[in-house]
Order: sequence, then structure tokens, then C-alpha cells
Amino acid sequence: MNQKLVADQVGADCLRQSDPEIAEIIEAELDRQRNHLEMIASENIASKAVLEAQGSVLTNKYAEGYPGARYYGGCLQVDRAEELACSRAKKLFGAEHVNVQPHAGAPANLAVYFAMLKPGDRILGMDLAHGGHLTHGSRVNLSGTYYKAFSYGVDRQTERIDLEEVRRQALAIRPKMIVAGASAYPRRIDFAAFGDIARECGAHLMVDIAHIAGLVAAGLHPSPVPCADFVTTTTHKTLRGPRGGMILCRSKYARRIDKAVFPGLQGGPLMHVIAAKAVALKEALQPTFKLYQERVKENAAVLAGALQDYGFRLVAGGTDNHLVLIDLRSRGITGMEAEQVLGRVNITANKNAIPFDPESPKITSGLRLGTPAITSRGMGADQVHEIAMLIQEALRYRDNPGRLSRIKEQVANLCRRYPLRGC
Ligand SMILES: Cc1ncc(COP(=O)(O)O)c(C=O)c1O
Repeated sequence: MNQKLVADQVGADCLRQSDPEIAEIIEAELDRQRNHLEMIASENIASKAVLEAQGSVLTNKYAEGYPGARYYGGCLQVDRAEELACSRAKKLFGAEHVNVQPHAGAPANLAVYFAMLKPGDRILGMDLAHGGHLTHGSRVNLSGTYYKAFSYGVDRQTERIDLEEVRRQALAIRPKMIVAGASAYPRRIDFAAFGDIARECGAHLMVDIAHIAGLVAAGLHPSPVPCADFVTTTTHKTLRGPRGGMILCRSKYARRIDKAVFPGLQGGPLMHVIAAKAVALKEALQPTFKLYQERVKENAAVLAGALQDYGFRLVAGGTDNHLVLIDLRSRGITGMEAEQVLGRVNITANKNAIPFDPESPKITSGLRLGTPAITSRGMGADQVHEIAMLIQEALRYRDNPGRLSRIKEQVANLCRRYPLRGC
């Protein structure tokens, strides 16, 4: 490995002396990221500028409160960083108010609940087993314990959200909050229709765009901002920023949301991460970001088509966004086994439940694949065709070590041709 490059990427020279064990782990992880194809739909490759801001001295600063109203002195510079992050987020998404302090996507969602709900209030969100997220009311999550949670799923035939059914449920349940958005749903979500349902049954609407935020920012998925009371997101998936969360809302809810994040749920904000969010948001405002998102979506469509040509059945028949969900049942392999086989040829993906999955969440019948990270490396349609071919070969010849090692070599070759890119 080129030691100079590693040092540049991770600033590892000082670390290597003070903590060689951690330095070695970071170098090994960088090596893994360089030499594996990252197909996990929720991951991406942040720019060097984002990494630099995140690894900066801003981590030293305590700044409880908000710009201009902190509980600590010396906040002049971090105030500027937070103000920039907020104004860029508002511009990018056309939002009236934004809070950039949530440490991640899950606390962003919990902060909205904390701002608007009382324990025991009813919420209606997408079933985790059909593609929703833990924080949308799962029994094992705080959202399904403190609140009375109900869920909607997808239609058994179309594997798409049946809005008439959501409306019927909403009118029967009369939830205080409806949650739209998903972790493993490959189709477009009609947020405007969710807005109509919420208004009809007197509920607030929260839309969680953690996965598709980049597509929304680029205008490639309809925005929920005009029709939702609250929009939450992560900043590290399609948005390609640092690990973190954000809440967008109407001005009339600004105070309640800000109070719920701090002092309600969190303590001091992570100012180094907020600065890195500002950097990522600036990147997302550039014309090249739209081209990147177009390519993410095109690559997912190409991947879907190529996998279907190899005879794979895709949940909901394809994709409108950055991910595909394969139903592996006809291949005689579980999601868990498929994840392991692909891991052996250096393709990283995750097992995922498919709607009405007969297998347990630890085994699953599905595999989720996404294109944000490979697109960040500059890959396009030709490489995606090659990847689809390698995936089908690996799954087909999973018991043939010679074949698997040849596939691994082809993966290595692709990674060499499309290295991780900096700025
Ligand atoms: C739809 C959705 N919301 C929220 C989250 C939680 O984000 P985090 O892991 O940053 O807490 C995720 C993470 O996968 C997600 O997919």
C-alpha cells in the first residue's frame, strides 16, 4: 500500500506514533474501502473536504444552545459554521426552518416525536418488515414503546404502498402523527398524497427522507417539503455528507423543534460534524451534484434491468431511486448466505427482509443493493453491467472456490480502475 497516500487520507502520521493499533485499523479500513465494491444502499463516500472539516479542531468546542444564544463563551466561529449549514440546507431544500444539530437520523426522528407527541399518542408509520425504519414505530424502538404505534405496509401483489389502504387505516386509527419514508423501498413515494391523508384525519405528517435526500435535493424525487410538517434526514447516505441528521420544518414549529433537540434530547452539538454538514450542503448546491444524483438513479435502473435479465425477481418490479431489493427465493439462497458469498468476492451488500418474508430478520429472503457509493467512484452503466454479471456469477458458483477467486480478481480490477476520489 502507498503509505504516503494513506497518511494524506487519514492524517495518520501523528496517530501512528501515539496509537499504532488504531492507526493500523484506520489504514486497514481505508484499504477495505479501496478494494471492495460498496453496494450498501445507505452508505457513500464523503469527499476529502467533508472528512477534513469533520476531523478538525471544531471537535474541541462546547456550544450548547444555538447561534447567538449559547451557554458557553468562545462560540463566535462555530456560530458562523452552524449558520452557514442552516442557510445552505434551507436553500437546498426550500425549507422555512432547519435544525442541523441531530447527531444522526434516529435522534432527528425522536426529536420530532418529542416536540409534538405525548407518551401514549398514536403514530402510524411504515412497517419495518415492509421497508420502514425502526424509528417509525417498531416495538423494539423507543418510538414503538412510548407511543402507540400502528403500521401500514405494501400491497401483496404490487409490493407498493397502497395509499387507499393507508387512508383507510389513518381514518380508523386517527393517529396524531403519520410517518412516511423508508429504508428499503425502491419506488417513488407520493408525499403529496400522504399530506392529503394527514390533513383529512387531522394528523401531523413527518417525512423521513434519510435514504433519498440526495435525490430530493437534486429534484429527482418529488420533495416532501411543501406537503409535510416535518422532514427529517440523515446527511451521510445519498446526500454524501458526514454521519449526522437534520430536521426541516415550517417556521411555526421552529421553536418546538429546536427545544426538543436541545435541551430536550441532546447536549452539546457536534460542531465539527455541523461544519462538515455545511461543506456537504455546499457541494450539494453545485450543478455537478445534480449530475451525480442523475447517475446514481440511472445506475440503479441499469442494475435493476441487468439483474432482471439474469432472471432475478426484484421487489416491486424494479426501482425509481438509488436501490434495488432482490427476492432470492427462486435461487435457493437466503439473504444471509448471499451477503456472505458476495463478501467473499469483496462485494459488500446487506441481507434485507422482503415484504411478507417467510424468513426471520436475521436470515431474510432478500438482498438490498444501492448505487450511491460506486457512483461516487465514477462508475457508470458499463461497470454496473459488469457488477450485475459478477453478482449473478458469485451467487451461482458459490460452491466453486476457483470461480469465486476469479470473480474477486475482477472486482479488484474494477476497484483499481475506479479509485476512491478526493474532492
Ligand atoms: C429511513 C431511515 N431513517 C432513519 C435512519 C437512521 O439513521 P441513523 O442510522 O443515522 O440514526 C435510517 C438509517 O438507516 C433510515 O434508513
